[in-house]
Amino acid sequence: MEETRVGDKSMGGARHAAMAGVTAAIAIAAAVLSAGPVSAETVKIGLILTYSGPAASLGEEIDNGLKLYVKEHEKELPAGVTLEIIRRDDTGPSPDVAKRLAQELIIRDKVNILAGVVWTPNANAIAPLTIEAKVPLVIMNAASVTATRLSPYIARTSFTMWQQGYPLGQWAAKQGRKKAYTLVSDYAPGADAEESFKKGFTEGGGEVVGSVRVPLKDPDFVPFVQRVKDANPELLFIFVPAGKQATAVMKAYNELGLRAAGIKLLGTQDLTPEEELPNMGEAPLGVITAGAYSEVATRPANQAFIAAWKRDYGTSSHANYMAVDAWDGMAAIFAAIKAQNGKIDPDQTMKILAGWKNPDSPRGPIEIDPETRDIVQNIYIREVKKVGDQLANVEFETIPQVKDPWKAMNPK
Ligand code: PHB
Repeated sequence: MEETRVGDKSMGGARHAAMAGVTAAIAIAAAVLSAGPVSAETVKIGLILTYSGPAASLGEEIDNGLKLYVKEHEKELPAGVTLEIIRRDDTGPSPDVAKRLAQELIIRDKVNILAGVVWTPNANAIAPLTIEAKVPLVIMNAASVTATRLSPYIARTSFTMWQQGYPLGQWAAKQGRKKAYTLVSDYAPGADAEESFKKGFTEGGGEVVGSVRVPLKDPDFVPFVQRVKDANPELLFIFVPAGKQATAVMKAYNELGLRAAGIKLLGTQDLTPEEELPNMGEAPLGVITAGAYSEVATRPANQAFIAAWKRDYGTSSHANYMAVDAWDGMAAIFAAIKAQNGKIDPDQTMKILAGWKNPDSPRGPIEIDPETRDIVQNIYIREVKKVGDQLANVEFETIPQVKDPWKAMNPK
């Protein structure tokens, strides 16, 4: 009985008729509470992230962004509404684990909303459950294009790989570059990154002279990067998951002498995440990436965000795009909670999420596209430079309000 609370729709049905005494007691409690000016609602959010293993720093960035939003904005929740965040560790790209955790969160914990999810295979494994159980999922990282097509109960506040790879390919071609090589992780987001960069680059007159895919788990980048060096392209485009893999591939690029050989390095924002830059030495200097967020961006909303971040997590702690994607994801969830006064209806929630906008996110203006439920955002072309005594992603060109290009090219 300890799980029962006022407003719990699982109680009061015919199958509980035998529990007449208990039901009566609850009815009285409900009457007493509902007589007050505010109703008590607990909104349960099931947060699935990677908190352990080699990619634990990704979960930490996302959780820190989300926690910071809650701390700064909790007071805006309607009176009587409390938030309960139930955290689960999927341990890495493990769709079976993620699916089991989502099942438990839905069935046992009765969450109203699922959130988080670093990895595309995990998000894709959860997608059918969101339909069966009608539980909205707000994706705060997983970035392969198809996720939002797998369920009408999914909205995404992060990005798609196509949102970065395609404009970056176009930009590289515009610089007059002719020959590129691609190196990506061998799973769906890697394939998206490879294809999107190639399409943008070749449409602009460039040629992809070779492509390698490296294992997602525990990759040794050296033989793959050596192969690129031997081909001697003008450009190397890389996507690997952010975190330790980004630092490892950057190290291989530098130590195998590709930088010295004049092979220019480009990538998605995953290649130069802010919290890893201090671990990369000077290797990333001059690397060009496409991304939706930079820690050093001077937008006032970003400066306020970074001030709060440094206050809570320390001056040497860095916020990356994942942290901001979670901050914005929580802002969207708050909008849904506020509009429904804490009584979460899944279909109503999706209606609120689809079309939700924030003109003033730390990354600039954003909107969840009502049609695709993917985010529309500025894509910045950035160069790694020294700002003060630290490396940073410095935005130097803005492609405004980019919708997922793949969905525009592949309408349903
Ligand atoms: C993904 O699996 O979708 C993913 C993971 C890590 C990243 C980007 C995308 O840095």
